[in-house]
Amino acid sequence: MAKKKTSKSTKSKKLSEAQIAVHWKEEDIVHPSPQFVAQANMTDPGIYDRFSLDNFPECFKEYADLLDWYEYWHTMLDTSDAPCWKWFVGGKINASYNCVDRHLPKYKNKAAIHFVPEPEEEPPAAISYQELYVRVNEFAALLRDFAGLKKGDRVTLHMPMTPELPVTMLACARLGVIHSEVFGGFSGQACADRIVDSGSNVLITMDGYYRGGNMIDHKVNADIAFEHAKKQGQKVDKVLIWQRYTGQYQSESKPVKGRDYIVNDVLKDYVGQRIDPVKLPAEDPLFLMYTSGTTGKPKGCQHSIGGYLAYVAGTSKYIQDIHPEDVYWCMADIGWITGHSYIVYGPLALAASSVIYEGVPVYPDPGRPWRIAERLDVNIFHTAPTTVRMLRKAGPDEPKKYNYHFKHMTTVGEPIEPEVWRWYHKEVGKGEAIIVDTWWQTETGGFLCSTMPALQPMKPGSTGPALPGIHPVIFDEDRNELGAGAGKAGNICIRNPWPGAFQTIWGDRERYVDTYYAKYCKDPKSKDWRDWPYLTGDGALLAEDGYYRILGRIDDVINVAGHRLGTKELESSALTVGDIAEAAVVPVVDELKGRVPDIYVSLKPGVKDGKAVQAKVVKAIESEIGKIARPKNVYVVPDMPKTRSGKIMRRVLAAISNTLDIGDVMTLANPDIVEEIRVLVQGKEKVAIKKGPEDIERFGDEG
Ligand code: PRX
Repeated sequence: MAKKKTSKSTKSKKLSEAQIAVHWKEEDIVHPSPQFVAQANMTDPGIYDRFSLDNFPECFKEYADLLDWYEYWHTMLDTSDAPCWKWFVGGKINASYNCVDRHLPKYKNKAAIHFVPEPEEEPPAAISYQELYVRVNEFAALLRDFAGLKKGDRVTLHMPMTPELPVTMLACARLGVIHSEVFGGFSGQACADRIVDSGSNVLITMDGYYRGGNMIDHKVNADIAFEHAKKQGQKVDKVLIWQRYTGQYQSESKPVKGRDYIVNDVLKDYVGQRIDPVKLPAEDPLFLMYTSGTTGKPKGCQHSIGGYLAYVAGTSKYIQDIHPEDVYWCMADIGWITGHSYIVYGPLALAASSVIYEGVPVYPDPGRPWRIAERLDVNIFHTAPTTVRMLRKAGPDEPKKYNYHFKHMTTVGEPIEPEVWRWYHKEVGKGEAIIVDTWWQTETGGFLCSTMPALQPMKPGSTGPALPGIHPVIFDEDRNELGAGAGKAGNICIRNPWPGAFQTIWGDRERYVDTYYAKYCKDPKSKDWRDWPYLTGDGALLAEDGYYRILGRIDDVINVAGHRLGTKELESSALTVGDIAEAAVVPVVDELKGRVPDIYVSLKPGVKDGKAVQAKVVKAIESEIGKIARPKNVYVVPDMPKTRSGKIMRRVLAAISNTLDIGDVMTLANPDIVEEIRVLVQGKEKVAIKKGPEDIERFGDEG
């Protein structure tokens, strides 16, 4: 697929208004080693023919057959409720059974999970498949008989990175209870919004966990979440609290009588219990995962049992190249989709040993990940460009001090700069490991684009071709297709449904259709999947060799450290500070995190103390959303640059924050304010204008 040598500049052809110019140099390709190819799960180039559009949708039987089914399906793909696709209809399955029980005959004594606590003096703990089976069963019994949960109920989890999280997820899956895990670093308020939206009556949390050398009091967030949910009309009846250390309660906030229960105390009544996995329709929901969109409210992406599990099992096997004998470490958080798909469900479906690390990668020093890799003999490693940048900056020479060997590495979540890619390859991978740059989203359940590691060479900075069975198309605003080598970027869409795709937005089908399908749908009444290309919301272009390069979001979502934050959400939390009249959030390039938010605020008349307001804004954002959203700068400005119709020109602010060309502002209602803000941010002296990354150049461009 890739040509041997691809070092030429992308052709620059005449662009229409709706198209996006790109200027970048092609990179040289890197081939996988013969040793890697010799052991790889997928070495048959015929897979792409088997998964061609001609063989769609039956091709996905190959993935579904990686699972155990109670009953086989009668309909591979049901499109009758387009674009809410149903896969494997008629099939009966259980995800917990597939990730645990079915491995017992062969692997009961093998580690399912290696838990690595952050304090280094606390040794890693291996949990065998047999032990996982026992814990999942006992907790499922508690959920059913003590918490009263049953098939179809939603339960919110707000849990950190400890083995109790996958135990909880798999116990829910065993019963058909829909779990909705909220990233542990999110605030109690953010958790409350998700409790309310999902209609959960039970919250499962933990007393505390280690992060950066401190025991974080986490239970306090449950109290905040409870109160905020109650105010919004959602009553949580029970809060179940796992303990980081059994019998040693870590939180300042004492359990509330009749509401809060320490799991380890209640579990005593369920010792030895076994719960038959519920035989569930394949298209029943397995979990919700909330993600940010352009409007304030997070969207609960609803993932199915059969389609999702088949897709993550297949992609874990072929793209991650997981074999049961591998030690696989995905250093993401289970609170994001990456952790759901590629720490828990995918690897465990394949009987892998999956590492869960509790803490921050550079604690107590940047050699920590490599010591973990050496000690556990990890051979597959998976992380985000942000972490790679951080480790490169803090300890560029650390990896070579440790005796570990990766055969395979993944990058995910945001574009990786070729420079950073090369360090990852040479230093972390010791020149031996292959790298897959996997492009996908919370909505897509699993990977969309990546090289097939033994079949295609790597190209730094490009994700690669589409996965088998994924058929992308790049459209410009006028629905013209931008083909290979067009030298122009557009909106990357997927032509066909695939089993891993989310089914809908929880409780909001209309928003699902509007956000992901309306733009390029040929006929809203059509029941034919060909009429419903899926809009990813990313800009991308396709090189002549068939490799996609992803430029980032085309909507006003900021990708911070590989995770999407809605600018509207940030703005509305800033506006909870009473002194503020207006707020505008823009992305700014950050050396480590890729993008971080800059916030511009204007004050209400009479408010004098700008410094105090800045501190209040940071605090509001941290408590409403979480520290991950902390702004780089909060600028107090006399007024916002506005169009004559009163719209804030975020494009202008983004240009100022990133020292890009501000362009013509004479049509604004208040053009003079632009220079005033520029001086405030950049200083009096004119600074040299840079060329920015495409997502920032385009930010706030409302056409
Ligand atoms: O813009 C793309 C970027 O991350 C977005 C998805 O974010 P989220 O739903 O939080 O899921 C993160 C983990 C999959 C995408 O729309 N993105 C993801 N992977 C890549 C990427 N951008 C470039 N290259 C990638 N490999």
